[in-house]
Amino acid sequence: MSAVIYVPADSAALALGSDEVASAIAEEAQKRGIAVEIVRNGSRGMFWLEPLVEVQSGKGRIAYGPVEAKDVQGLFDVGFESGGKHALWLGLTEEIPYLRKQQRLTFSRVGITDPLSLEDYLEHEGYQGLRRAISMIPERIVHEVTESGLRGRGGAAFPTGIKWNTVLNAKADQKYVVCNADEGDSGTFADRMLMEGDPYCLIEGMTIAAFAVGATRGYIYVRSEYPHAITVMDKAISIARSAGYLGVDILGSGKSFELEVRKAAGAYVCGEETAMLESLEGKRGIVRSKPPLPAISGLFGKPTVINNVISLATVPVILARGADFYKAYGMGRSRGTLPFQLAGNIRHGGLVELAFGVTLREMLYDFGGGSASGRTIRAVQVGGPLGSYLPESQWDVAMDYEQYTAIRAVLGHGGIVVHDETADLARLARHAMDFCAIESCGKCTPCRIGSVRGVEVMDNIIAGKDTEKQIALLRDLCDTMLNGSMCAMGGMTPYPVLSALEHFPDDFGVAGVRHA
Ligand SMILES: Cc1cc2nc3c(=O)[nH]c(=O)nc-3n(C[C@H](O)[C@H](O)[C@H](O)COP(=O)(O)O)c2cc1C
Ligand code: SF4
Repeated sequence: MSAVIYVPADSAALALGSDEVASAIAEEAQKRGIAVEIVRNGSRGMFWLEPLVEVQSGKGRIAYGPVEAKDVQGLFDVGFESGGKHALWLGLTEEIPYLRKQQRLTFSRVGITDPLSLEDYLEHEGYQGLRRAISMIPERIVHEVTESGLRGRGGAAFPTGIKWNTVLNAKADQKYVVCNADEGDSGTFADRMLMEGDPYCLIEGMTIAAFAVGATRGYIYVRSEYPHAITVMDKAISIARSAGYLGVDILGSGKSFELEVRKAAGAYVCGEETAMLESLEGKRGIVRSKPPLPAISGLFGKPTVINNVISLATVPVILARGADFYKAYGMGRSRGTLPFQLAGNIRHGGLVELAFGVTLREMLYDFGGGSASGRTIRAVQVGGPLGSYLPESQWDVAMDYEQYTAIRAVLGHGGIVVHDETADLARLARHAMDFCAIESCGKCTPCRIGSVRGVEVMDNIIAGKDTEKQIALLRDLCDTMLNGSMCAMGGMTPYPVLSALEHFPDDFGVAGVRHA
């Protein structure tokens, strides 16, 4: 019998040499006459251990990592193909504390299955959600998603079921489901890992959405910097179609759904849902004014469900196990789990899926193991480039949408970017304004002009020119952007700027400045 060896083909593992490791294992096994089956799985999301090689044993999978091609001979010398001990031996994968302490619902298969094997997907609860959805009327599917408490994981946290209900009730000859896979937030990679590691899960979630609202076409708008995710999604769509899970009369339901991948335009603002629709229609990514909502008049003017990858990929488990199962996780109005992404200056970067309610301190130390530099952590930006900087005094706040709103912070897409004590928050605030100036779509004045003026004001503050007056100007400018911008690009750029000013006033050359 062949030894089954897992070598991830996720982009993070590939960047660290997993292709070379897989080739070295195949060559060495052949030389030694050992029969091996190499499965290219997704990543387990423990990036400091990548490439993480696993071997199947009677007790479960045994992990080795980080493995380089030059380690492969030594691994065979100790009989790693049957779990032999080695300096890189990590024991049972599932027992590694970083993984053991997680609650993986959306990511339950990622790193475990062969991403493109439909058989593997079916063996791991795949398509059970869709099978149940087929037996339900559309209103009942929407009700189940509403009851689960699922809220959009793309950033705005809008209740998914309510959005679907609007599309369901809209009368039209054509409706669409669009998956937002632009994943522009700094330090985030959950969408990419999901698409590369469990593509059928997203396809199943989109198909359930389509059946729920009466849509027959769907698009996945994937960040152009994700070539591997695009390839995996394209292949999975084609396999699913051949097997009757996409196309006409899916699984004999009488319902049809066609799905295509579209490569995104490469601008942060194209992740904003209406700019994304413009881009999908072949135009420049400029934000549309609302109303009308995309749920009423979206892609090509038709009712459109727009959801993030993680929102859609969470739908199969909700349908398969029921709303009550899902909503038993979490706290308050934040139900279920969020795949948090630890990045920046952190020792153990990676993906941590947990129920809402965990604290940032637990993330940083119990999972992250402190800073990568070994210095004290000073500021943490949560929720992408438009998220606030959190000082240590806020690290014990439960990570829940409402509790974060109460401290003028956001969870967004779950990105956590860590900075140590060498960080200069005034320069990071300048960067926020600069980022907005570069990425602004230009449609409204507070964002287009405000961000450029914001960079100038920050330059004056950093140079120590007339500091008090410039800070008053900065606050005024942020007030205009917060209240006058058409979308969250200009509307949220003040979050990193004002939080930096409030919590790290020394970096701005003043003490104890508070914003209103
Ligand atoms: C500037 C900007 C960029 C955004 N980028 C993304 C993105 O990359 N991915 C995403 O899912 N949502 C992004 N959003 C949020 C979307 O507009 C929208 O709320 C989301 O796709 C809806 O899906 P959800 O309800 O499942 O979260 C962005 C919003 C703004 C204002
Ligand atoms: S806030 Fe910025 S990105 Fe949004 S519409 Fe206005 S100019 Fe465009």
